[in-house]
Amino acid sequence: MSDIETVLSDNELNELREVYTPSITYLEAKKNYTYDFKKFLKFSSVTKISSDPVALEAILTHAYHALEKGLTMEVPRPGFGVDAIILTMATILKLERLGVIGVATKGGRGMLKSYVDFHNENGFGIDGKIKDDLIEFVNKMSHENNPGGSYTLSLEELRKASDFDYESFIQRRSSVRHFTGDQVDPKVVKTAVRQSLKAPRSCNRETRRVYVAYEKKLKEQLLSYQNGNRGFGHKLGVVLMVTVDLRHFDLIGERNQGWIDGGLFAMSLVYGLHAAGLGTCMLNWSEDCESDKRIRKAFNIPEYEIIITMIGAGHVPKKFEVTASPAPDVDEVLSIIEPRE
Ligand SMILES: Cc1cc2nc3c(=O)[nH]c(=O)nc-3n(C[C@H](O)[C@H](O)[C@H](O)COP(=O)(O)O)c2cc1C
Repeated sequence: MSDIETVLSDNELNELREVYTPSITYLEAKKNYTYDFKKFLKFSSVTKISSDPVALEAILTHAYHALEKGLTMEVPRPGFGVDAIILTMATILKLERLGVIGVATKGGRGMLKSYVDFHNENGFGIDGKIKDDLIEFVNKMSHENNPGGSYTLSLEELRKASDFDYESFIQRRSSVRHFTGDQVDPKVVKTAVRQSLKAPRSCNRETRRVYVAYEKKLKEQLLSYQNGNRGFGHKLGVVLMVTVDLRHFDLIGERNQGWIDGGLFAMSLVYGLHAAGLGTCMLNWSEDCESDKRIRKAFNIPEYEIIITMIGAGHVPKKFEVTASPAPDVDEVLSIIEPRE
């Protein structure tokens, strides 16, 4: 029997895996978790409202989004969301006093107006606890046109928008590692980023950020921190880095939310670039806290942002290889939840 046919012991296998996925000690694992933990605790509002206006905007958005949701129910409940209304008015006023006027305060104001309009149009009463303050608040902005509330979408529009060959679109997205090296038009990237803003996000808070490098030296510098672009990184037309701002989170249940919101956004971004005819490759930021500190320092990434992933994109040649990356049968992934006895 040749050596290669010998079944290795666990220890021998462990030695082999060290080349690709080096193991760490318990203490190193703890240090890395503590790094994430401290960041979340320091910048989110889970233990107390952060004094940062961004955190306040997030609390406002969280509150008024509950009201938006109320308007989109099959049967909206008259007088719903009293506590959310009180918090929405209070945070709008506080932010405006701080001179922070933006999508959150305007969206909040728009929502309050929609709330009053909805109740008036349907002949519903507003809860006495908020009625006078809310009506006064809304009347004062009668001349303003703020976005917010809800709007109507039709089945016909939905059908029209989904009437394309999604199967083909999705099956022809593969991670690409063969690029022409041509520059990517920043307008194309900007469009894809704008489209990705439509990706679902927790309670409509805008936590996502993108850093983009077009210039050769900067791309190289950015990629020099990343393990996984060897052999094609130098031919990428653009390198993007997706981050998420932790200042928006205010619930302990959201301790991992940033990775989810950022991941959904990154995927949408990849699809947006794919829709523009570019090849893309996600470039992992599966790094320990020391590498994380190094890249932050080099590119001035604020401490309150977590780095989700990098994405490389570029023009592709007429023909190129992609990995077969066999996928399991759908039934290995999909389980139907059965009623329990
Ligand atoms: C978060 C993330 C990070 C990734 N990082 C890398 C990377 O650093 N280098 C690389 O060549 N591919 C990377 N990939 C691509 C995966 O290897 C690839 O998506 C997977 O094998 C499936 O193949 P497909 O994308 O061609 O369908 C990454 C994918 C994800 C989701």
